[in-house]
Amino acid sequence: MHHASIPAIGAAAAWREAARQFLAAGVPPDQIHWGGIGSAPHLFADLERPRGTGAVTVPRSFIAMAETVVWHRDPERFARLYGFLWRLRGAPHLMTDRGDADLARLRGMEKNVHRCQHKMKAFVRFREIGAPDAPRRSFAAWFEPTHHTVEPTAGFFARRFGDMDWRIVTPDITAVFANGAVSFQAGQARPDLPEDASEQLWITYFRNIFNPARLKVAAMQSEMPRKYWKNLPEAASIPELIAQAPARARAMAEAAPTLPPARMAQVQAQLAGCTSAWDGPQDGLPAAIDACTRCPLHRSATQAVKGEGPLDAALMIVGEQPGDHEDLQGRPFVGPAGQVFDQVAGQVGLRRDQAYVTNAVKHFKFQPRGKRRIHQRPDSGEISQCRWWLDAELAQVKPRLVLAMGATAAESLTGRRGALMSRRGRVEHAPNGQPVLITLHPSYLLRLRDPQEREQATALFDDDLRTAADLLATHRN
Ligand code: URA
Repeated sequence: MHHASIPAIGAAAAWREAARQFLAAGVPPDQIHWGGIGSAPHLFADLERPRGTGAVTVPRSFIAMAETVVWHRDPERFARLYGFLWRLRGAPHLMTDRGDADLARLRGMEKNVHRCQHKMKAFVRFREIGAPDAPRRSFAAWFEPTHHTVEPTAGFFARRFGDMDWRIVTPDITAVFANGAVSFQAGQARPDLPEDASEQLWITYFRNIFNPARLKVAAMQSEMPRKYWKNLPEAASIPELIAQAPARARAMAEAAPTLPPARMAQVQAQLAGCTSAWDGPQDGLPAAIDACTRCPLHRSATQAVKGEGPLDAALMIVGEQPGDHEDLQGRPFVGPAGQVFDQVAGQVGLRRDQAYVTNAVKHFKFQPRGKRRIHQRPDSGEISQCRWWLDAELAQVKPRLVLAMGATAAESLTGRRGALMSRRGRVEHAPNGQPVLITLHPSYLLRLRDPQEREQATALFDDDLRTAADLLATHRN
């Protein structure tokens, strides 16, 4: 029997190295005892570790999955991963076998860890602990994650809060960010953290964004599970806000103006004019879009680019308009922006083939320059003309969530264009109530020349796609 003990800090690298050696030496899963994270090392652990020489090839998709699953709290995770890795030898197709129970279980664990990382990003609350005259501000937070997610999520906090020193203390390990570098220490008991000014800010913010007329207690508890409440300053207000919600919603309805302001009437007339009344047969929509002459863009484009994907998709992804490649191939997101999307989506487990992918505007708008066709942003008139088709697609697919990538998609879906950076990562609602998650457009990432800026923007895009994946997983029908 071989024994492998995995340290609490650096578990991913330690598991990968041990698994590589066992696999190279041909050690079958039932000959290995995997100690849990931080378990006392077996007396002969290292002596017994075989030194294999065989070549080891492992599908990349397994490595990506394993690097997440190792952070799950299931004590059997290392053994499960190795067991599946063992089966993968000579059968790499298992990674795509949807009927495989072991893979399904690991994918479920991967999802749990992603969800836990997402909750950590949303619910860590820093309190200021440094001396007022210290050269750098210093913060600390106490957090109790469901899985071992501190280490894989620390990079997110380092990017977001790179201009201050901070520590996130958990019962398992503590992440410390000082002088621009993250390090990890053993876990600690809950520290006695002072209340600070940001505490009151959170409470005020939460009370302000709480809309009693939209209260859905189950959905709220799923987004903000009760176990996190005790460490969230704003959560103390929740019982009171829920109790007062019916009376406040009634009062809001009674106080609502009976005549909408003039500007509102204008906006509503415009929206009504663009709402699709297309009521042809379900399978006739692509041909109808092909024949569209609602705005002048059809004259110079090669063809209309229709949406594609399952008509019962839970997620609809909306971009701006086809680019040069899309215009020629007649399919959305097949050019460089599509490749950026595919890469980030792949990392976060968002399946493009399960989504309906389309654009706010169906024809390529460009200006010829020499042999090149230079992309031009569609204007509000073109966007609202094309809403006709987007609405028809929405009515057909009825997605649970729409991902609006970029300002044009956000404008088309919500009626509001600006302030994309402050809106991204949040769910807004279309006039008919359709939830719309706003994010950056992948070609924005391609346009950034500064590598650091591009990395930061990519991290935001990655966060948003993760949010989409989590929302879909959380609110499954
Ligand atoms: N950009 C978009 O917005 N859509 C595409 O289909 C391609 C690039």
